[in-house]
Amino acid sequence: MIWYIINLLNILIFMGVKIMKFKDLIGQMSLEEKAGLCSGKDMWHTKPVERLGIPSFMMCDGPHGLRKQDESGVSTNVDQSIDAICFPTAAATACSWDKDLLYKLGETIGEEAVAERVSIVLGPGTNIKRSPLCGRNFEYFSEDPYLAGMLSASFINGVQSKNVGTSIKHYCANNQETYRMSINAAVDERTLREIYLLPFEIAVKLSQPRTIMASYNLINDTYATENEFILNKVLRDEWGFKGVVVSDWGATNERVKGIKAGHDLEMPSSGGMNDKLIVEAVKDGSLDEKTVDETVDRILQVTMPTAENPSDATYSKEEHYQIAKDIASECAVLLKNQDNALPLKAGKVLLVGELAVVPRFQGAGSSFINCTKISTVAESLKEAGVEYEFTSGYDLDDEKPKKNLKLRKAAVELAKNFDTVIVVSGLPGSYEAEGFDRKHINLPESHNLLIEELSNVNNNINVVLTMGASVTMPWIDKVKSVLCMYLGGQAGADACVDLLLGKKNPSGKLAETFALSLDDIPSSQNFPGSRFSSEYREGLYVGYRYFNTANVPVLFPFGYGLSYTTFEYSNLKLSSSEIKDTDTLTVSVDVTNTGDVEGKEIVQLYVNDVKSTVYT
Ligand code: BGC
Repeated sequence: MIWYIINLLNILIFMGVKIMKFKDLIGQMSLEEKAGLCSGKDMWHTKPVERLGIPSFMMCDGPHGLRKQDESGVSTNVDQSIDAICFPTAAATACSWDKDLLYKLGETIGEEAVAERVSIVLGPGTNIKRSPLCGRNFEYFSEDPYLAGMLSASFINGVQSKNVGTSIKHYCANNQETYRMSINAAVDERTLREIYLLPFEIAVKLSQPRTIMASYNLINDTYATENEFILNKVLRDEWGFKGVVVSDWGATNERVKGIKAGHDLEMPSSGGMNDKLIVEAVKDGSLDEKTVDETVDRILQVTMPTAENPSDATYSKEEHYQIAKDIASECAVLLKNQDNALPLKAGKVLLVGELAVVPRFQGAGSSFINCTKISTVAESLKEAGVEYEFTSGYDLDDEKPKKNLKLRKAAVELAKNFDTVIVVSGLPGSYEAEGFDRKHINLPESHNLLIEELSNVNNNINVVLTMGASVTMPWIDKVKSVLCMYLGGQAGADACVDLLLGKKNPSGKLAETFALSLDDIPSSQNFPGSRFSSEYREGLYVGYRYFNTANVPVLFPFGYGLSYTTFEYSNLKLSSSEIKDTDTLTVSVDVTNTGDVEGKEIVQLYVNDVKSTVYT
C-alpha cells in the first residue's frame, strides 16, 4: 500500500502535477490575499494574513553577521542596525577551504538570528569572482565554482540547523557592480552552467536553502526575476529546488511575467501595485490562478513554522567575538616568509600604517554590520606585550603625494633604527564596495611607495594586507614577509597579531588568483562591458582555468599559501585505476608535519578529463 502511494506520488510529480502542502489553507484565501502574500509588507517583513493565522516574518542582511534594522521595517539606513558581531567576510573565509568552519560560522550567525527573531539571513554570497575588479568580491567566496559551492552549502546548513533560513545570492551571473541593476550578462550556456550556475547548483542540492535571491541583472536578455530558464527550468525542474525565489531588493520587473517564470516573493513592498497586477491578470485570464496558488504554497512553506524558535533566546557577545577571532585566524594566508621572518623575533619593532589604528575589516553596502569592540593591530600588539613605536606612513583618506610625502619620509627616517618593520597596508573603503567596481587592482600609490622606500633603508619589512580582493605587489621581492588577512571581521586584528607572534600558524590558501597585472586577466577586455551588456567572451577561462591553460605567470596562484611548518605528502592511493563517469573514486594521501610547530594543511586535488571531447 505504502509502495503504491509513493509510486503514485512519483508518477504525479513526473507528470508535472504539483503536490501542494497548504492546499486547504490556500483554498480559504481570497485572490487578493494570495497576491498580497507575494510581496513584502515593508523593507524587511512579509505580510501576515491574520484571520488565517499566517504570520509575517523578518529577513535581514547577511552574510557576515546580522544587519538587522529597526523592527518597524521602514529603515534603510545601513548605519542604523542593531549591534551584532562582524565575522570575517567570504573572501577571507574561503581561504580556510574548511567546510566545518563555514558550518560553524553559519551556526553562530543562526544563533544570533534566533535571538533577534530573524527568520531569514540574506546570504551567503555565492557569485563567482569573474574579475578581481568586482566591487563586491569581498562578499563572494572564489573564482572556483566547486569551492564556492561547497562552502556556501556548509554555511547554509549551519544557519539552517538553527531553524533559521538563508537566501543564497545573487542568482545569477551577477559578477559586477557597474550597472548592476540593468546590465545584461551575455553568457554562453556551457560557461553559464559550468562556471556561474555550478556553485548555486552544488549549494541547492546539498543544503536546500529556504530561499534564493534572484539578482537585478538580465541573463541573456531576460531579467533574472522573470527568467523561465534560470528559475523554473534549471533551478526547480533540474536541481529540485523546493524553496522560495525572492527578488533582490527592488529587482522585480514585470510582475506577472515573473510569477509565471517562478519568481515567488517580491521584496521589499511595492505598495500593493504589483499585487494588483497579479489579481488583474488572473481575472482577465492571462495568468492561471493555479500558478499563483503554487507560488503561495512555496511562500507558506517558509512562512508557516514547523518548529518555533525560543522567544527568550540570547547569545554571548564575548563568546561570539572569540569565534569570530578563531575563524579569522584560520583564514589568513601567508604569502611570503623569506628567512622565516615570521613569527616575529625579539628586537625593536616599528609599526607603520594608518590601517593599524583605523582598521578596515568589513565591506560597505548591505552587508555592513554595526559592531563594537573593534580590534586593531596597534592595540592587539600592545595587549600581547609587544613594545613598538608607531607611525602612520600614509593618509587613508587623502592619497595626494604632498600629504603622504611628509608621512612617508617620517616613516622611512624612523625605519632606519629598527630591527623589524611591520607595515599594515590594504585597500581603503573608497576602493571597493557594493555599488561600484574597482578601476585597477593596485594598492594606493602612497602605500606602494611607502613599502618600496622602507625596503630601501631596512631589510626586515613585513607586510600585513587587509583588503577584499586581490592586489598587485610591485615590491614583493624587497620585503621579507606578506600576511594576507583579507577583511577579517571585527576580531581580525586580534587574530592577525596571534599569527604574527606565532601563537597560531597560518594555514589559509588563496581562493582566487593574484595576477601580475590586470591586463593578464581575460575578462578585463570585456569588463564591465557597455552600458547595456557585459559579454562573457572569456568563456570558461575564469581565474586559474585561464592562467594554467595559457601558461601565464601570476603573482600568487589559486590554492597558494605557506605555513610556519612543513608538510610531506606520501602514499597517494586511488581506490581504482579506472572508473566510469558514474563511479566514485576515493583518493587518500598521508600528510606528515615535518616541521617544529603545530600546523594545518589543506590537501588539494585537481582532476581533468585526459581525453576530453569538448575543449577544456
Ligand atoms: C543587495 C542584496 C541585499 C539587499 C537587502 C540589495 O541591494 O544587492 O545583497 O541583501 O539589498 O539589503
